[in-house]
Amino acid sequence: MENEKRKTVIELDNVRRDFKVGSETVHALRGVSFKIHEGEFVTIMGTSGSGKSTLLNQLGCLDTPTSGEYYLDGISVRTMSKSQRARLRNRKIGFVFQNYNLLAKTTAVENVELPLMYNSEYNAKQRREAAVKALEAVGLANRLDHKSNQMSGGQMQRVAIARALVNNPAVILADEATGNLDTRTSFEVLVLFQKLYAEGRTIIFVTHNPEIAQYSSRNIVLRDGKIREDTMNRNILSAAEALAQLPLPQDD
Ligand SMILES: Nc1ncnc2c1ncn2[C@@H]1O[C@H](COP(=O)(O)OP(=O)(O)O)[C@@H](O)[C@H]1O
Ligand SMILES: [Mg+2]
Repeated sequence: MENEKRKTVIELDNVRRDFKVGSETVHALRGVSFKIHEGEFVTIMGTSGSGKSTLLNQLGCLDTPTSGEYYLDGISVRTMSKSQRARLRNRKIGFVFQNYNLLAKTTAVENVELPLMYNSEYNAKQRREAAVKALEAVGLANRLDHKSNQMSGGQMQRVAIARALVNNPAVILADEATGNLDTRTSFEVLVLFQKLYAEGRTIIFVTHNPEIAQYSSRNIVLRDGKIREDTMNRNILSAAEALAQLPLPQDD
């Protein structure tokens, strides 16, 4: 109910995506519709082959539907040219990947500045300021000049999250963002996503791990290219509390 008053950031209307493989057609998405409002933290779950990556590619403007409509921040994506989509993607979406996708041998602050290179509204000084601010927001103010290969997995993922935030995007899209991390570090990253959620960010977190749904505000389950469940979480667990209850790491 409360959601209806909030701005719609993402709207999918009967989105289908077919792939032709030889003489066969694979129906990866079979008519997916939903709206995501500003400030939601949505997990998208499903087993392997259920259509998660295909859906994420639609949401991230990396692919276009075979039919149906996708509106991102009110703009219809389907009719756009490739370069228009690239621009929209750069301005409206912050991506966080399983493998971090940072430039190696490049400092944290330089990695975070990258998305702003294509934005003429920022000069060098403003880029640096925005990158430092984003790194502060993820708790890495003391790691600005560390290179990617000098950081732990959790730190690299926090740099990637800072890079996703730096453009002040309409939505943050995370693809198995804790997939490469151990349990403790995964919870640290989840704590950060919950902090961003508390600050009003819109987050879509795609994962095959059902446990993560306990920490989001809404969970969408895909199966065979269709939505099987779409539920609000009335009892969002605290990732910080879960983290505090984990056994301490052993030194041996
Ligand atoms: N480029 C492609 N060409 C052909 N089939 C594809 C392609 N991408 C995905 N598929 C098929 O679409 C279905 C959904 O795949 P995918 O979206 O990758 O699922 P998930 O990410 O949930 O594992 C699968 O049956 C997969 O084989
Ligand atoms: Mg996948």
